[in-house]
Amino acid sequence: MSAHKIIIAIDGFSSCGKSTLARELAARLGYSYIDSGAMYRAITLYFLRNQVDYSDHSAVLAALANINLTFVFNEQSQGSDIHLNDENVEPYIRDMIVSEKVSEVSAIREVRSFAVAQQKRMGRKKGIVMDGRDIGTAVFPHAELKIFMTAEPEVRVMRRFKEMYAANPHTTIEDVRHNLELRDYIDSTREESPLHQAEDAILLDNSNLSKEKQLEMVMDWVKSLTPKGEPAI
Ligand code: DC
Repeated sequence: MSAHKIIIAIDGFSSCGKSTLARELAARLGYSYIDSGAMYRAITLYFLRNQVDYSDHSAVLAALANINLTFVFNEQSQGSDIHLNDENVEPYIRDMIVSEKVSEVSAIREVRSFAVAQQKRMGRKKGIVMDGRDIGTAVFPHAELKIFMTAEPEVRVMRRFKEMYAANPHTTIEDVRHNLELRDYIDSTREESPLHQAEDAILLDNSNLSKEKQLEMVMDWVKSLTPKGEPAI
């Protein structure tokens, strides 16, 4: 493992393969991987389950005071599962009902402050790969490596459809397309830290790139950042 640990921020539109790349990169580097979207999804799940009126700021603050989010390593999947108040909610956070509301919930200022404060703490020791929408712009503006991922819309729709269809065969391509378009719109036009490419982020369009090729490219970027004489990994 490298003595020179860095922070890698990966941002981009929904279903660009950010999590897949981030997870593999973290495994390769011996870093921890944090899926910041899972935090917004778990908060949304809590709001839905507890019928929190999220147009009411004091109700939002009261609800956030009852939320404890942790990432727990799962031996079987070799990844981290998000726990909401000690319950593993990983199986529920990607349901369409959560996907339909998560962009609205994550646009709320109090929700963002709550999640961002926790994300910043997780990066204190570096050695972390975090993916999301505002990681390179708001959470870690000084990250050593920032990547902004994108892919053609239809490529993204089909990727997300395959994932969701495997979990629920009632999912339709139209539902997935509509949800992605809506989330991209809300995520990139909201007032609080909207999704945009940081000036110093490298653009990675992976419409026609295999997972292996992407990993290889990013590993080269990581190595080019490592001071000479230090092991890259
Ligand atoms: O990465 P994802 O699709 O699981 O993220 C779910 C939603 O959470 C996404 O539509 C926008 C929001 N999000 C955000 O606002 N900021 C982040 N850093 C990560 C996700």
